[in-house]
Amino acid sequence: MSRPRFTNQIVLFLAASAAAILAAYLFWSFEADVRVLLERRMGTDPSPSAATIVAAVKLILLGIVGYLLVRALNFLFFGLAFRLKRIDAPQLIRNIFSIVGFTIFFLVAFTFLFPDVNLGALFTTSAIFGVILGLALQDTLGNFFSGISLQADRPFQVGDVITVGAQRHTGVVEEISWRAIKVRTFTNNVVLIANSTAAKEPIEVFPRDNLNARLVFFNTLYSDSPAKTIHVVREAVREADNVSHKITPVVRIRNLGDNGVDYEVKYWPEDYAKYNDTDALVRQRIWYAFRRAGLNFAYPTRTLHLERHTAAAAMRDGKDGAIVERLSAVDLFAPLSVEETGMLAQAAVRHVFAPGELVIRAGDPGSSMFVLHHGRVRVQVNDNGRPRTVATLNEGDFFGEMALFTGEPRTANVVAVEETEVLEIGHAAMKRIFDNNPDLVESLSFIMAERRQGLASQTDPSVTASQTSAGILSSIKRFFGL
Ligand code: CMP
Repeated sequence: MSRPRFTNQIVLFLAASAAAILAAYLFWSFEADVRVLLERRMGTDPSPSAATIVAAVKLILLGIVGYLLVRALNFLFFGLAFRLKRIDAPQLIRNIFSIVGFTIFFLVAFTFLFPDVNLGALFTTSAIFGVILGLALQDTLGNFFSGISLQADRPFQVGDVITVGAQRHTGVVEEISWRAIKVRTFTNNVVLIANSTAAKEPIEVFPRDNLNARLVFFNTLYSDSPAKTIHVVREAVREADNVSHKITPVVRIRNLGDNGVDYEVKYWPEDYAKYNDTDALVRQRIWYAFRRAGLNFAYPTRTLHLERHTAAAAMRDGKDGAIVERLSAVDLFAPLSVEETGMLAQAAVRHVFAPGELVIRAGDPGSSMFVLHHGRVRVQVNDNGRPRTVATLNEGDFFGEMALFTGEPRTANVVAVEETEVLEIGHAAMKRIFDNNPDLVESLSFIMAERRQGLASQTDPSVTASQTSAGILSSIKRFFGL
């Protein structure tokens, strides 16, 4: 409520109170004169008597004063005292206070002014009165008591967002009165839901002081990587207005759909009542983030088919150049000629791994090695049932050579740390290289010896690289028939 309106109301209230009190005072002062005047006008056998009319007018005046008094008390008690304690009294409680207060005041005044009338008998003996009143107030009383139980249960409060009933009326609770719940919808309409209806219907509540989650859906082409999509969308959404910083948005795959991969992003709005705007903003952020990151929304199948063609062609064109560049930067392959590196690139097969996926499992047989094209991996050994990292390898590093060159099982787990792309080179391609470059075997055996030492140093620190490299060299030569 704005200040000037509040002041106007107080002034109006004080003026009305002054007028009512003055009227009551004047009537009481001139009561005797009024009675004489009435008796003179009404003749000898008046019905009702002048005294009854005077008492009725007094009752009306007292009623007005009483009404104003109850309102003043209501304001002082709920408006000021509750506010001081920072409690917002519900409208329904205020109304009940006013009704009960006024009824008591009125009954006391009535008994005082009409001492001959037995009020109790009037109410109890009048069966018809009771039936009429009961029928007339059936719905009203139902709403009233449902309202009281809503206030007692307090399943929601003013300011919460609720969705009520089969028609799913959704909006912010503006008021809970003795008759109905007033809900302002997100199209700025007001829906009044009778308390008795609300008591019977399921109500979904999104409390104002709670972080209620929202889900927004989107999709991508099958050619777009999930790890990249999840990262890009999470970063784009977490910075949007009204998205809570307390919980990081969650992006996950819901379905592998007909047209593409279906995702959902779960985020927590600070102010749930603004979820329509925030959902829209989240979708907008996803669109821009997709643009920057080169990700694609999935179109219907026909368009997807065309897109696929383009993606495959682009991959074919770019493949050889990028792979040759990568392989020629690997130390191990430095002595190779351009033709030999090209041959190796032709034989290499690309694989993509998600963060956390196993590229190599310790103990498995292996007949290929890998060059890390993009991403990062961890080499891990089992330490009493828990993984222990012995090395982290980056782009341009290679791994998996031990099993390939010795024929022994894989010595360690290799796990992708982030989305990782590797180039797999098989036994046949390496044999061709070794046939032409026997020196390569020697430098390789030294690297392998160092890695072996890294693995063994936990159990036997006395093992040295030069001790094992000779053994490895001869076993590679034997294995490859060199
Ligand atoms: P392989 O045994 O075929 O499979 C596991 C791979 O982990 C192994 O080959 C090596 O390439 C790699 N590896 C093992 N130990 C180390 C280490 N200490 N440093 C780097 N890489 C290692």
